[in-house]
Amino acid sequence: MTGIVIAIDGPAGTGKSTVSREVATRLGLAYFDTGATYRVATLACLRDGVDFAQTSDVAAMVATMNVELILDPRNPHVLLDGEDVSAQIRTDTVALTVSKVATNLEARPILQELQREVIRMETVGGLSEGRGVVAEGRDITTVIAPEADVRVLMTADDEVRVARRAGEGADLATVREAVLGRDRKDATVVSFHQAADGVHTLDTTDLTIEEAVRAVIGLAHEAQL
Ligand code: DC
Repeated sequence: MTGIVIAIDGPAGTGKSTVSREVATRLGLAYFDTGATYRVATLACLRDGVDFAQTSDVAAMVATMNVELILDPRNPHVLLDGEDVSAQIRTDTVALTVSKVATNLEARPILQELQREVIRMETVGGLSEGRGVVAEGRDITTVIAPEADVRVLMTADDEVRVARRAGEGADLATVREAVLGRDRKDATVVSFHQAADGVHTLDTTDLTIEEAVRAVIGLAHEAQL
């Protein structure tokens, strides 16, 4: 027996991180936020002063950076050179720069291979002791884990997505750019608005988190029957 792989993709603000973490917690699985690998790579480049226009320099940094991912759904975190950078990878600076790594066609395959290896590890051991993993990110259902037991594309109306990301007092223009602008940039290299064959679409526009979590867990149970 190997563990279950639940792959969840979709654009920002669809609830995929919250739902993925909750599903992983309830099912005793690891939680893998693949976006964090792009974010920590971006932070590593920013700290080292790497010129993002030099695509090979970015790829070299990605290939050699010292990153550790802690896949605990209750407390996921990311270490760079042993330092917990979980907060730093969520800053506006990283959010507005990360597409430069995500669209770098030399760096991307290196991160994709790392992601495949992390997922494979969790089906045989790792933090989940082989129970498996909920992996989320833009190309998870198609490129990284097309063989996943459960594949879900989460969607929601654009304005609902922007509103979910805009916290109290947040500058709406910045949030709009971070959500919709980044989708546009990412869409040049990843397709994440249309469900591929065999991928379930879950439109969360009118769903509560609880309803979305139950829908995914329902699919997981079906897959294991
Ligand atoms: O999901 P997120 O906002 O943390 O993603 C950060 C960036 O990485 C964003 O530009 C999308 C990109 N990404 C990607 O291209 N492929 C993935 N599997 C995950 C994230």
